[in-house]
Amino acid sequence: MRIEGKSVIVTGASSGIGRALALAFAGKRAAVTAAARRADRLEELVREAAERFPDAPPVVPVECDVTREADVSWLVGGTVERTAAVDVLVNNAGVGLYGETELVSIDDFQELLSVNLLGAVRCIQEVVPFMRTRESGVIVNVASVAALYGVPYLSAYCASKAAVAAVSQSLRAELDGSGIRVMIAYPGYTDTEFFEHEKVVGGARRPPGPFAPPDRVAAGVVRAVERNVGDVYLTAQGRALSVLRGLAHPIVERAMRKIARELRGEDEPSPDDGKQ
Ligand SMILES: NC(=O)c1ccc[n+]([C@@H]2O[C@H](COP(=O)([O-])OP(=O)(O)OC[C@H]3O[C@@H](n4cnc5c(N)ncnc54)[C@H](OP(=O)(O)O)[C@@H]3O)[C@@H](O)[C@H]2O)c1
Repeated sequence: MRIEGKSVIVTGASSGIGRALALAFAGKRAAVTAAARRADRLEELVREAAERFPDAPPVVPVECDVTREADVSWLVGGTVERTAAVDVLVNNAGVGLYGETELVSIDDFQELLSVNLLGAVRCIQEVVPFMRTRESGVIVNVASVAALYGVPYLSAYCASKAAVAAVSQSLRAELDGSGIRVMIAYPGYTDTEFFEHEKVVGGARRPPGPFAPPDRVAAGVVRAVERNVGDVYLTAQGRALSVLRGLAHPIVERAMRKIARELRGEDEPSPDDGKQ
């Protein structure tokens, strides 16, 4: 896809990866709509984009909380009214939650899912009807390497990101042939404010990194949009994990069937055991 002149919405654009994505798309002369809750931070982004890319369309800031349906409709409806399209939607808004699963409250689980999973779903449900009328569009869902496997002390976060990946895979199949593409981005540790904002419960330590710069992550995502890549692994660790997970999957499946049989008090191998 050629990005110049395209209408691009980036959620969570007030800091970190989203901010870097908004600038990277603006650098390609896209018409960027930058959404987040912190208006002052969006204004800073608008100023930086205007200074760095004076010949690009101005970045348009929209205050939007992705947990609020009315905000999301305003974001998408307003963008369509202004630019006559949404060519690319990047669902990037997200928050973290770190700590022992047994200590994470149900309210905290729900709050996290409402942003990371349902925030993306709300935006998808608003945007797909518009993309369908044009028979084109790209939806980029920012998951995480944490979507690939349940990491200790990150159960809620991993669950939210694995769910984002699952929704993306379902949607990708459902939209097959519609002209709308669905991409999943799997960043690894990235140097952003994420870790300052995440809620921490209990006393587990966080690994010390290493962290990628957000600009590099954003450049990888934009390149993947240009090249029609479906799954974007932005780190060697993410790529390795995806390969290993693929290799181990049939073995794990068989082991799980065996455990379930044992727990039911059955000894005979199931007819499914040979299947992968
Ligand atoms: N940093 C990492 O190591 C890492 C690794 C893998 C994946 N990711 C994912 O990358 C995405 C961006 O994270 P980041 O690292 O760039 O962190 P960040 O700097 O904290 O950015 C998070 C963004 O999400 C926005 N946001 C949070 N809650 C929101 C809500 N309810 N409605 C709208 N916007 C909301 C924030 O803006 P406002 O507060 O202004 O609303 C902010 O712009 C997230 O989905 C995160 O899970 C991060």
